Amino acid sequence: SPSDPDLVERARAAKEKLGDKVFVLGHHYQRDEVIQFADVTGDSFKLARDAAARPEAEYIVFCGVHFMAESADILTSDDQKVVLPDLAAGCSMADMATAEQVAECWDVLTEAGVAEQVVPVSYMNSSADIKAFTGKHGGTICTSSNAKRALEWAFEQGEKVLFLPDQHLGRNTAVRDMGMSLDDCVVYNPHKPNGGLTTDELRAAKMILWRGHCSVHGRFSLDSVNDVRERIPGVNVLVHPECRHEVVAAADHVGSTEYIIKALEAAPAGSKWAIGTELNLVRRLANRFAPEGKEIVFLDRTVCFCSTMNRIDLPHLVWALESLAEGNLVNRIEVDPETEAFAKLALERMLALP
Ligand code: 13P
Ligand code: SF4
Repeated sequence: SPSDPDLVERARAAKEKLGDKVFVLGHHYQRDEVIQFADVTGDSFKLARDAAARPEAEYIVFCGVHFMAESADILTSDDQKVVLPDLAAGCSMADMATAEQVAECWDVLTEAGVAEQVVPVSYMNSSADIKAFTGKHGGTICTSSNAKRALEWAFEQGEKVLFLPDQHLGRNTAVRDMGMSLDDCVVYNPHKPNGGLTTDELRAAKMILWRGHCSVHGRFSLDSVNDVRERIPGVNVLVHPECRHEVVAAADHVGSTEYIIKALEAAPAGSKWAIGTELNLVRRLANRFAPEGKEIVFLDRTVCFCSTMNRIDLPHLVWALESLAEGNLVNRIEVDPETEAFAKLALERMLALP
């Protein structure tokens, strides 16, 4: 079993043998059995920064998903090796924008005569190729914790934003934080000719949202919010900005995984919370804060883990750490130098946001 004491001991021993040579990063959606071995935990912004701040570690073991490991590789030096314990840990949202599709979109924008006014802003949850496209075209990366600042920056550079690949984070940030209206946003569908948009629509739009979404956060609905408010009077609804706009509009608070944790740390005893984000994190927080008299429930009645985050389990972590301890570099994530150069430009613009 994954919490097998033998595996726990093996992970501990391999980590001890590696010492300072290894640094283990754990995203908040990781399983408890994995999180216990993380040297640092965080949201995707914090983990990107922390990976870059460990130049002495030869190996960065990234317990998270593929795009996070790629970003860590881009931000660390060439002789540091980033390892993803299971190569199948991808992100379905990141997969919704491919390099070919985005290049085609840029052609559509060029044809419509708007490309010159457009600044791309890409969510961290995207491949290194998309980040490179973003860097090449003068744009920045953002995460859910700095999307507002990224949009403010982008609208200082140009008149329109192409937001990739999460339409919800793009729309929620534009409407909730930037005071735009839903009419300022259009959705570009990569599976339709011209993205399913007319030239007039492209010219009028301020936000061109890529038609991508997170299937985990897509499970929360307005009904989930209404139900929980009925079941638990006085409940505070706190959701991740990857949720649909109507869910975010009906929630009391919205923020990244790190924000969610901070909000619950600051919450008074006796307060009640319904959390709309991945279940490993919500469960961990419910257990952690129960002794302080904070009642924390999952926003929906159905169970939803992020299946790809969950692929990193204790057996995979043990395998990766033991292999490294024996001198076998396994599951290295390495972005090619040309992609890396442009992607780094975009990531560094994010890190330099005020
Ligand atoms: P955070 O940056 O809030 O940790 O979000 C990452 C993610 O993948 C959410 O689905
Ligand atoms: Fe991707 Fe959604 Fe999983 Fe986050 S929760 S890694 S956006 S599939």
